Amino acid sequence: MENVTVFDHPLIQHKISILRDKNTGTNEFRALTEEIAMLMGYEALRDLPLQEVKVETPIETCMTPMIAGKKLAVVPILRAGLGMVNGILALVPSAKVGHIGLYRDEVTHEPHEYYCKLPDPIELRTIVVTDPMLATGGSAVAAVDFIKQHGGKKIKFMSIIAAPEGLERLHKTHPDIQIYVGHVDRCLNENAYICPGLGDAGDRIFGTK
Ligand code: PRP
Ligand code: URA
Repeated sequence: MENVTVFDHPLIQHKISILRDKNTGTNEFRALTEEIAMLMGYEALRDLPLQEVKVETPIETCMTPMIAGKKLAVVPILRAGLGMVNGILALVPSAKVGHIGLYRDEVTHEPHEYYCKLPDPIELRTIVVTDPMLATGGSAVAAVDFIKQHGGKKIKFMSIIAAPEGLERLHKTHPDIQIYVGHVDRCLNENAYICPGLGDAGDRIFGTK
């Protein structure tokens, strides 16, 4: 699929396997979520624009590339997307951070918005939306809808585990955005949880339930 990257890097696969393990505790789960986001971010940000700047080395003055402007926004989908933010900020510490609050109705599995705050000028920024789980795709589609309604244009969506149906739905609804996923799992179960998945990402990151 054009605009869809599924990572096959052994480090990412290894870390995802530890996340899946129900015996992995909150502390390790958080650390791994951040590390995976950083590894994915390294690849997802390979098209950041550069500009030549003048630098004096101890030897001579030269023109050398640096990232142009400070126009990156990381936008986690609350709550679980928060777990990926520091991984991206480790790569680009000057990035601004927006938030989109969505929760899935437990019965209908439809997303409901409860918060949205994006950094200005959103239309000029490369926007990285983070959420570890892409299940039905409802939350991801709604988040990208909101960002576009607020003027966002260059959008990347980053997710650690995707269900095939959620990935297809997001890609079909928003074919212009770049999607990065760590692994595509088998299917959704009757509660719209990803199988084999890792359970409820928000609960595992924050130690709830
Ligand atoms: C989870 C997850 C995604 C969403 C994915 O969030 O973090 O946002 O479900 O499901 P979907 O693709 O079917 O929309 P949840 O609603 O459980 O909220 P939480 O992050 O606050 O736990
Ligand atoms: N949200 C999660 O946290 N996990 C799933 O498997 C599906 C949605």
